[in-house]
Amino acid sequence: MIQLIKGFHDILPDDTPKWAFIVATARKVLERFGFREIITPIMERTELFERGIGQVTDIVEKEMYTFMDRGGESLSLRPEATAGILRSVVEHSLLRRDPLLKLYTIGPMFRRERPSKGRFRQFFQINAEVLGDDSPATDADMISAAHAIMTALGATNLIMEVNSVGCVMCRSDYKSKLREYFSAYLDELCPDCRRRYDTNPLRLLDCKEQKCSEIARNAPVILDSLDQPCLEHFQGVQAALDILGVPYRIEPRMVRGLDYYTRTAFEIIHGELGRTKAVGGGGRYDSLLKELGGPEVSGIGFAIGLERLAMGIPDDRRFARSVDVYVAVLGDRSRNTGLRLVRDLRSAGFSVETRYSPMSLKAQMKVADKVAAAKVIMIGDDELDRQEVTVRDMHTREQISVRLDEIVHRLQGDSQ
Ligand code: HAM
Repeated sequence: MIQLIKGFHDILPDDTPKWAFIVATARKVLERFGFREIITPIMERTELFERGIGQVTDIVEKEMYTFMDRGGESLSLRPEATAGILRSVVEHSLLRRDPLLKLYTIGPMFRRERPSKGRFRQFFQINAEVLGDDSPATDADMISAAHAIMTALGATNLIMEVNSVGCVMCRSDYKSKLREYFSAYLDELCPDCRRRYDTNPLRLLDCKEQKCSEIARNAPVILDSLDQPCLEHFQGVQAALDILGVPYRIEPRMVRGLDYYTRTAFEIIHGELGRTKAVGGGGRYDSLLKELGGPEVSGIGFAIGLERLAMGIPDDRRFARSVDVYVAVLGDRSRNTGLRLVRDLRSAGFSVETRYSPMSLKAQMKVADKVAAAKVIMIGDDELDRQEVTVRDMHTREQISVRLDEIVHRLQGDSQ
């Protein structure tokens, strides 16, 4: 047997109703906030991610599915959606038509991480971006949109962790402070972190090795390095969050794993999943669009992981399988009439299950139970002679006879 690729997963028919509910709810909320959908390819030129996400990030260094295509070009499966969306915005000059762009996309992303609970190599994201407005209220509005998606899905026990990672200037000051702090621990850091010390000291803060994270716990925080404009922006975000009533907590050591962030960064923490795995995250980026060949316009976005989201939503009755009617044909002569009845019921909008090969009534009632049919219509040769069918209500167990030419009409009346 050929098996699934490690870290990839199937979404089986019992789970797709919950999945569809999450996607439909997220779409509804995002459209309420004024977002429009964009769909970009799952594969892009590798260079896009190297420039967009940053050469010295875990994602680009270790986690991309990169290969040479037959034309000799390096391509990668997208590890996230933002870089691809921005590429598309630049390529189609979308900002020229609409200087304030609000876009969302939902689809699979690929990162070759070590699989664990809630961490996959193919996972889905609900991703939203706003381009063209750098006011603090926009940041708060985005955090509020992410929060609104979660609450519309019934998630409680939520907290939005927010921080400011400053601008290039603040970060340069912060990086020196980080180097100064970590220099005392160089021998104790993992080999990756020793490299990060030189190449990208911010990444020292989110190493997953126990020893490194213990050391990082007492590192200086970036909030102490913010310059006046960045500090004011961050205060503005907090004030707007207070007005919007979004519950948040300032998390001064959160830096996020992607290099493009400037100023506001945030993560959605869901109590059920614990602190180590965020359900979603995002932040502002001031120079990413320019970096990718576009105008000097800043943006802010977030992505919520669908698998992690689904883990926090109980499998309740809403997602159980059910059909309106099961049609049980009980005789050879009734078969064609049964077939026509199934067609007529489906045309009238009912979901209908039946079995075409001959089966006993008992076996068919088992199927009707399995598909959770609300009603069973029985049609046998005797009933056919009388031009009648028997209808059983599967909840009350009541049975009545109904004329064959009235049954569709009658069920329509019942369902109103
Ligand atoms: P991210 O924090 O890398 O941000 O990912 C966002 C969310 O995707 C995570 O919080 C998590 O729920 C989900 N996720 C990430 N990796 C995995 C994985 N291996 N398995 C399962 N779920 C995963 C971004 O991707 C940014 N592009 C978000 C953004 C948009 N920032 C600005 N705009």
